[in-house]
Amino acid sequence: MGFKRVGVIGAGQMGAGIAQVFAVQGTAVKLADVSADAVKAGIAGIAKSLSRFVAKEKMTQADADAAVARIEGVSDLKALANCDLVIEAIVEDLGIKRKVFGSLAGVLADDAILASNTSSISITELAAATDRPDRFIGMHFMNPVPIMKLVEIIRGLATSDETYARIHAATEAVGKVPVVANDYPGFVSNRILMPMINEAVTCVMEGVAEPTAIDEIMKLGMNHPMGPLALADLIGLDTCLAIMEVLHRDLGDSKYRPSPLLRKMVAAGYYGRKSGRGFYTYG
Ligand code: CAA
Ligand code: NAD
Repeated sequence: MGFKRVGVIGAGQMGAGIAQVFAVQGTAVKLADVSADAVKAGIAGIAKSLSRFVAKEKMTQADADAAVARIEGVSDLKALANCDLVIEAIVEDLGIKRKVFGSLAGVLADDAILASNTSSISITELAAATDRPDRFIGMHFMNPVPIMKLVEIIRGLATSDETYARIHAATEAVGKVPVVANDYPGFVSNRILMPMINEAVTCVMEGVAEPTAIDEIMKLGMNHPMGPLALADLIGLDTCLAIMEVLHRDLGDSKYRPSPLLRKMVAAGYYGRKSGRGFYTYG
C-alpha cells in the first residue's frame, strides 16, 4: 500500500518541503528540477530546515543527516522511472505543467501514481495531459510544508477510488491531515485565502494603510499568525498572481480580478522572499 520511492518534480520551496517530509518519514526520494544547481539549492534548503528541528531538539543530527541521505537529486525526468509516486511542484502555469506531464508519458510504471501540488489549476484538466487520468490526483501541501498540518486532497473527474485511498494513507503516513475538496478553481484553500491577500494588496494600492499597518491589523485583530502581505511574500507574489488569474478566468467573475499593484510588482520582479523584495525586503 505504501510508496517505496517518491519522485518530486520542482525543487523550489514547496518541492523541497515535500521531499523533506517524505525523507524524514523514511522514504527514498528523487528530487528533480531543470538544472543541477536548482536541485542543489533545494537540498540546501532542506538541510537548513532540518537544522531548525535539530536546534530545537525535535530531531537528532543523525536523523537529519539520514533524511538528507535519502534524497537523490536528478535533472532528467527519466530518472523518475522507478518511482511509484511522483508529485509535481513546479511553477503555477498550466502550459508548463502540461508539458512536464506530457514528457512523463511512458516513463513511469503502469501502477505509479502522479499527483500535482497545484494551488488552483483544474486537476481534471491536468490529468487529461497525462497517460493516467485515473491514477492522477491533487495533493496540495501548505507552506511551509514541514510545519503545516494540512494537505488538501482534490480528486479529478477520473481519479479512481484506489488512487484516492492510497494518497489519503500516504498523507497520514507523513504526519499530515488530509482534507478533501472538490475540483473547482483554487479548491477551498485559495478560493478563500487568495481574495483576502488580493484585497490587502488593493488596500496598499489605494493608500488605505501602510503594509506594516495592514499586517498588524490582521495579526492583532484577527489572530492570524502573519499578516496577508507578509504571507504573500512567503508564498511568492508570482504564485499569488497566477492563482488570482486562474480564479478570475475559470470562475469568470470580476470579483477575482487581480489587483493592478500585484501585477505591477510581479512585472518588476518583486516576487517576495524568493527574490529578496516584495512588500518587505529580505537580507
Ligand atoms: N522548516 C523548519 N521549521 C520551520 C520552518 C521551516 N521551513 N518554518 C518555520 N519553522 C518553525 C520555526 O523554527 C518555529 O519553531 P518552534 O515553534 O519550535 O519555535 C516555528 O516554525 C514558528 O516559526 P517562527 O518562530 O520563525 O515564526 P512564526 O511563529 O511566525 O511562524 C509560520 C512561522 C509557521 C510560517 C507562521 O507564521 C504561520 O503559520 N504563518 C502562516 C502560514 C500559512 O498561512 N501558510 C499557508 C500558505 S497558503 C498555501 O500554502 C497554499 C497555497 O497554495 C498558496
Ligand atoms: P518556486 O518558484 O519556489 O519553485 C518552482 C520550481 O519549479 C523552481 O525550482 C523551478 O526551477 C522549477 N521548475 C520550473 N519549471 C520546471 C520544469 N519544467 N521542470 C522541473 N522543474 C521546473 O515555487 P513554489 O512556491 O515551490 O510552488 C510550486 C508549486 O506549488 C506551484 O504549483 C504552486 O502554486 C504550488 N504551491 C505553492 C505554495 C506556496 O506557498 N508557494 C503553496 C502550495 C502550493
